Amino acid sequence: MAMMSRRHFLRTLAGTGVAAAGVTLWTEVSSFPGTCVVRPVKIPAPAGWAGKTILFISDLHYGYAFGPEEAKALSARVQAEQPDLVLMGGDLAHHPQMDLDGLLAHWKPGCPTVYAPGNHDMAGGQTARIIEQARAGGLVTLNNAAEDWNGLKLIGLPSALCAPQQLSLCDGPGWKIVLGHEPDVWDHYAAPDLLHLAGHTHGGQICPLGQALVLPTLGRKYVHGQFSRDGNRTLLVSAGIGCIAAPVRLNCPPEILKLELV
Ligand SMILES: [Fe+2]
Repeated sequence: MAMMSRRHFLRTLAGTGVAAAGVTLWTEVSSFPGTCVVRPVKIPAPAGWAGKTILFISDLHYGYAFGPEEAKALSARVQAEQPDLVLMGGDLAHHPQMDLDGLLAHWKPGCPTVYAPGNHDMAGGQTARIIEQARAGGLVTLNNAAEDWNGLKLIGLPSALCAPQQLSLCDGPGWKIVLGHEPDVWDHYAAPDLLHLAGHTHGGQICPLGQALVLPTLGRKYVHGQFSRDGNRTLLVSAGIGCIAAPVRLNCPPEILKLELV
């Protein structure tokens, strides 16, 4: 039998009905761009931001099942949404020595991009290379840093698995957005009026019967979706874009969160 390309293999599998225990289950196999979904979420806006749109994108894992062609497709998808700002969660790269030229050359979202690093960007204490490339490529890179973005306070923290997070950046009055790669760290973000954007879990990525088989450290409590607490504290966990361990997603399509500020 002739070898099938990965894309042909995925197309062949996509939409396969699986019969198990007498029940036919719909199984969706996908990878980016394939079935990428844009999921709208309404969030409260600080002064001057009502009516604006922010896209949150996470876990590209550039270099593993996501290369220059996928980067070009993602850039076009983002442009089509005409966002005012793009927030990029961690795991921009699949490993900390990755060359990002093929990603950054195609990254033209039509607005600024603010990025904070994830564990795959920083693993083994190798923090510099991905961060330097992101900065050189025009991404506003926040690594234990905060910026006031026209009245919107943005805080970028490094992966909690790789470096201490400077949580004091979250102190002080006013509404703020925190980019913090691992969702389960939300339990330690005690400041009020805080929106935490996380990825890391890939929503489980491979989810037979809708349940994740494997979840990462600091991504087992808040796997996917929206969580709220008193004090106007909200956590949004994105299923992300890319893959790890296997170049496929099962019942868990790539996802862009579209934050509509109201
Ligand atoms: Fe990841």
